[in-house]
Amino acid sequence: MLYQKLNKKNSKRRINKMTITLDNELLSNLTNSVISQMSTTPSARLRTVMECAVRHLHAFAIETKLTPEEWLTGIAFLTAAGQMSSSDRQEFILLSDTLGLSTIVNLLQDGSGLVQATESSLLGPFYRNNAPSYQVGESMARRCNGPQLQLYGRILSTEGNPIPNATVQIWQTDSEGVYDIQRGSEMDTRGVYTTDENGYYHALTVMPKSYPLPSDGPVRRMLNAQSRHGNRPAHIHFLISAPEHKELVTALYVAGDRYIDDDTVFGVSSARLIATPSLDNNAPHPEIPTICYDFHLVAGVAEGGRVGADVATLKY
Ligand code: BEZ
Ligand code: FE
Repeated sequence: MLYQKLNKKNSKRRINKMTITLDNELLSNLTNSVISQMSTTPSARLRTVMECAVRHLHAFAIETKLTPEEWLTGIAFLTAAGQMSSSDRQEFILLSDTLGLSTIVNLLQDGSGLVQATESSLLGPFYRNNAPSYQVGESMARRCNGPQLQLYGRILSTEGNPIPNATVQIWQTDSEGVYDIQRGSEMDTRGVYTTDENGYYHALTVMPKSYPLPSDGPVRRMLNAQSRHGNRPAHIHFLISAPEHKELVTALYVAGDRYIDDDTVFGVSSARLIATPSLDNNAPHPEIPTICYDFHLVAGVAEGGRVGADVATLKY
């Protein structure tokens, strides 16, 4: 059918010396033919997503007047991203992060119920399952040195009720801006805490530092081609779960960091996620710079909705 339409169109093409002018009808016929061929897809959701993807992909190529060389560059880039990905590294998630896509998916997932609940932020590639468990108040900085930081606060429902026995997973860089797995060392500056009967968590750690995204892959080459600095502001990741509550993946960003307004992966999606370490007379250790932060979880199913994963557990 498409063949017939193209042939019919070809006979009508205006040939102006070397230039063949494609008209819009021919292009939209092609888009519709692809969508019509995919209409046999049994899953309604897959059908919707793929149809929309094809529409936007075709519109993108048409709007940019994509050349064969550019198309091939794109294919080479995606191939390199695949080759770079392994059980330690997910270049496609990094690409999604640097294009702002991951944050869009997070914001969509958060939905509109965020008046009381804490906003989500990126999981990132450095999350690991099976981090060591610590008692309330223990330090998760095992081997690294650096200025001390104290984290404490409560895990609460959106109505403000304390959630005891919530699991609070925390991970961050050391004070040089390096994650334990980047050093190839044992787990450090990451740990799992459980809230007490009043919903309190309390952890000791070191001050995190801003850091650059990996410098050896195609995503970094893309950032360089765009003259982007490629850094993330200093932050601390939290993954908080509790029975009958929606899991919260978020991060606290350190106020005053030079990249706070220009995060390469657009993770600082809300000013409410920016925290200022300061001395706090109410803290368990008033002499240590402290972030006191209460997190609010939405009631609902515990499973699902996490944008990202421990890449070692991804199935292909
Ligand atoms: C991170 O915060 O660990 C991160 C997030 C997205 C891309 C790279 C790193
Ligand atoms: Fe991070």
